[in-house]
Amino acid sequence: MINVAVLGACGRMGSLIVENITNSTDMQLAAAFDINNFGRDAGEFAHVGNLGVKISDVKDLESVLKESKANVLIDFTAAGATIVNAPVAARAGVNLIIGTTGLTAEQRAVIDEAIQEGQVSAVISPNYSVGVNVFFKIIREAARYLADYDIEIIEAHHNQKKDAPSGTALRAADIISEALGGKEYVYGREGIAPRGKEIGIHGVRAGDITGDHTVLFAGNSERIEIKHMAHSRQIFAKGAVLAAEWVCRQEPGIYSMNDVLGL
Ligand SMILES: NC(=O)c1ccc[n+]([C@@H]2O[C@H](COP(=O)([O-])OP(=O)(O)OC[C@H]3O[C@@H](n4cnc5c(N)ncnc54)[C@H](O)[C@@H]3O)[C@@H](O)[C@H]2O)c1
Repeated sequence: MINVAVLGACGRMGSLIVENITNSTDMQLAAAFDINNFGRDAGEFAHVGNLGVKISDVKDLESVLKESKANVLIDFTAAGATIVNAPVAARAGVNLIIGTTGLTAEQRAVIDEAIQEGQVSAVISPNYSVGVNVFFKIIREAARYLADYDIEIIEAHHNQKKDAPSGTALRAADIISEALGGKEYVYGREGIAPRGKEIGIHGVRAGDITGDHTVLFAGNSERIEIKHMAHSRQIFAKGAVLAAEWVCRQEPGIYSMNDVLGL
């Protein structure tokens, strides 16, 4: 049985992840953390009844991870939280699934170093959905054939999302840039803004949109749009729980969802 700890267990993603863990036969919820609601049962937020696992103060992360014999910590919080907590968990020998987006390159480097020092395995992905990872594969392939086309990425999310553009849009841009030997990014356009050979990236924030990503390849007289639309956050939660089960069987190292899914 794999002991899973969830960081941000009262949040939109964290509570869904708790729900998915309770539906798994290979895993059990060992610990749950957040910055408030201490002492309340984690099952309350996941609407799955009493689980006997209280929300712990994230300040006690290291000691509670040890006491609960957690094998893996799933973190969907905020960049400022992940940069503090992921290194603590890694150095305590706990494997990691990081879903938090908006990490800077410097923050990512600090986390990578802690994972190496702690000799743990981790999956870090801006998007845990199976469909999005297949979408990544398709856009990489399309970019190779459409190098001369104008390329724009348009993403849309709910009005509570903090970071912009989305981690998934940035990952899509990086995949295309890598396929084409390096591209500049232009974020939105305003005023006199003639188009160059860049990848344009545009964010929409509105209502309760779960997450849409479109890559537009436009040439003269034709265009291709490759689009992924998330209908529910369950796709991310299911992928994160799948990755948690997978990562516990791996050698120490940092992996992506491509590795988990064998893409
Ligand atoms: N990788 C993916 O597939 C994927 C999918 C969806 C969302 N996300 C990302 O996951 C993150 C969370 O998204 P959400 O919609 O669940 O947000 P949310 O605001 O609903 O939940 C975040 C939770 O983290 C808690 N939190 C904040 N700071 C904390 C800290 N220092 N320690 C412990 N807990 C803390 C909050 O109290 C809250 O309960 C965001 O970065 C979002 O972009 C990633």
